Amino acid sequence: MMIPITSRQQPEDTVRDGEVAVALPETFDAGVYFIGRIRTPWTTRGECPKNAAESDAVCTIELDPRWEAGLESVATCTHLLVLYWMDRARRDLVIQIPRHYGERRGTFSLRSPVRPNPIAASVVRLVKVDSCRLTVVGLDCIDGTPLIDIKPYFASSDAVPEAVVGWHRDRKQD
Ligand SMILES: C[S@@+](CC[C@H](N)C(=O)[O-])C[C@H]1O[C@@H](n2cnc3c(N)ncnc32)[C@H](O)[C@@H]1O
Repeated sequence: MMIPITSRQQPEDTVRDGEVAVALPETFDAGVYFIGRIRTPWTTRGECPKNAAESDAVCTIELDPRWEAGLESVATCTHLLVLYWMDRARRDLVIQIPRHYGERRGTFSLRSPVRPNPIAASVVRLVKVDSCRLTVVGLDCIDGTPLIDIKPYFASSDAVPEAVVGWHRDRKQD
């Protein structure tokens, strides 16, 4: 069943030939708290870097002051794992044809914002912490994107240098 496009979605949310949408469940199983907003130079999806590694732009994470005490010791971290909510993406596609690859892929093999729970993750370099404002490098989202979590990045346990995404490694290059 096709799901109608909502006012939060953008023209690029149109389903392309070959993409597959499913009916979403009627209710949610949990709620999240948006704990802040991310400030970036980009106002549309098209302007954003395709992924965080492509970006050297300095961005600001504005944490809601309610959570400020939770930043204790964060300034000791060089890198953080930032989780954010891709609020302008449709949520019902299980097969996608990303424009820049042009081949069909399952949603869970992609880092696309289009997914049932549009949670994005990026490892960022922390430049400074100033009360509730964190200056960071390494984000790829639209200005105002909701923040859902900040965690320390542990190179010792999070980095997997031998990891491979086979379809990406083997894709045809122009
Ligand atoms: C491919 S996703 C990767 C996100 C994250 N780094 C990850 O790997 O989970 C990045 C793209 O999401 C899109 N995007 C950025 N902010 C968005 C938002 N608030 N809602 C929907 N899409 C967004 C932009 O097209 C951007 O290039």
